[in-house]
Amino acid sequence: MASAEAKAHLFVVFGATGDLFQRKLLPSLYRLATQKKLPVGSRILGVARHPLDDATFRANAVKSLLAESAGTEGDLRAFCDSTLFYHALTDETATGFGALRGRLETLEKEQGLAGDRLFYLALPLDGFAPTIQGLGEAGLHASPGWTRVVVEKPFGRDLASAQQLNGLLRKYFEESQIFRIDHYLGKETVQNLLVFRFANMFVESLWNRDRIAQVEITVAERLGVEGRVHYYDESGALRDMVQNHVTQILTLVAMEPPATRDADSIRNEKVKVLQSIAAIRPDDVVRGQYTRGERDGQPVRGYREEPDVANDSTTETFVAIRLKVDNWRWHGIPFFLRTGKALPAKSSRVILTFKAPAVSFFQEEGEYDANPDRMTILIQPDEGFELAFEVKVPGREIRVQTERMRFHYADVFGDLPDGYETLLVDVMLGDPTLFVRADEVEGSWKLYGSILANPPPVAFYAANTWGPVEAKKLAEEWGHRWDRS
Ligand code: BG6
Repeated sequence: MASAEAKAHLFVVFGATGDLFQRKLLPSLYRLATQKKLPVGSRILGVARHPLDDATFRANAVKSLLAESAGTEGDLRAFCDSTLFYHALTDETATGFGALRGRLETLEKEQGLAGDRLFYLALPLDGFAPTIQGLGEAGLHASPGWTRVVVEKPFGRDLASAQQLNGLLRKYFEESQIFRIDHYLGKETVQNLLVFRFANMFVESLWNRDRIAQVEITVAERLGVEGRVHYYDESGALRDMVQNHVTQILTLVAMEPPATRDADSIRNEKVKVLQSIAAIRPDDVVRGQYTRGERDGQPVRGYREEPDVANDSTTETFVAIRLKVDNWRWHGIPFFLRTGKALPAKSSRVILTFKAPAVSFFQEEGEYDANPDRMTILIQPDEGFELAFEVKVPGREIRVQTERMRFHYADVFGDLPDGYETLLVDVMLGDPTLFVRADEVEGSWKLYGSILANPPPVAFYAANTWGPVEAKKLAEEWGHRWDRS
């Protein structure tokens, strides 16, 4: 969001041989370099346990970039040779981090860098604490320039572990140095929620309990776990998607206008939303898991049939939740959240259903189905927004039909930037607006605490269907039917 110029710095990635760096961060950094958004002269130091040298790390990076079809081999090689370096952190003790500090200082001297440093923790959860501690104890929380630390998700497993992690971060770093990443906040359509709401009078004047009957937030995925079983089976959809991505969308949808556009004003309002929601009770949640199904005539295996998943695993791959945001604006209005893997479509959307007109004299019982008006924010794919409303079908008889007005980003702006690219530039600029503050992450874990501690049993759904029948009932009991598009 900021428009200042970022400065040349050392971008240090922990977990540099891992999937996230190779598949997401590296291609994003390369694209930023080609767009001149990676400040000229910046260097990337990959850190991991593997004993590699710079040359092998660079050769592997070229392969990863080619696999993501990021550019021509010659261009990729030139980028990797000039920008990438590697440090093997085989020993995570003070000695190991002391050696890392030495490497940083030497590299900065050789490369003419002033000491601005970004530490990106692209690590599994259990790697965060030793790395933060190692950095802090080696004095790497401060430098001759700025120092920032980016922490990937999952930020803890529950409230207690998130508080512990925040406590450790605060021991060495100021909150302004800490960037907790949620890549959904980098998506243009998620950022646009604020512009859509607060720059358009027609939207904001309708966005409340007087006009809206219910709100649905769906983040549906077509793919199953796809080779991430070890992480996913420990995590499940509630930790993997709901506590972070879905809850971030919820807070942006439900928040009040911030006093200003600065990071803290916006985050204060998001926190207030979390404070206005009562802790979710098990009766208001359905956890689901996909079983064997069929797509395009081909069998799709069930979650328990995935390699390395126990045949009695109770990890949820689907979650549906109903809740109320008990503040002035939304009192009494139900919100329905849903996410899942192996569903029929990849589709993330927010749907606001309007209340019915006070008197419906265009409809007589049994004549036709009157559909309530709906405003849909299409987060991905097919980004944009859609308004569904009723029109009269021409003719002497009064017949009413639902039509749609649509806005598609692609028609106006072409391809949208990748969320990671946006967020990386923001960290380089030191703009925390699109990052999650400590109290936000804790507030979100708190909300789901009782379900995490006592998860309701999993209900099953066939892969390539819209989740278990229990999720349908959960919504219907509060007068809602899930969207099927
Ligand atoms: C990640 C989750 O954070 O988000 C994945 O760990 C999920 O399980 C992914 O597939 C979805 O991201 P996107 O941007 O493809 O919607």
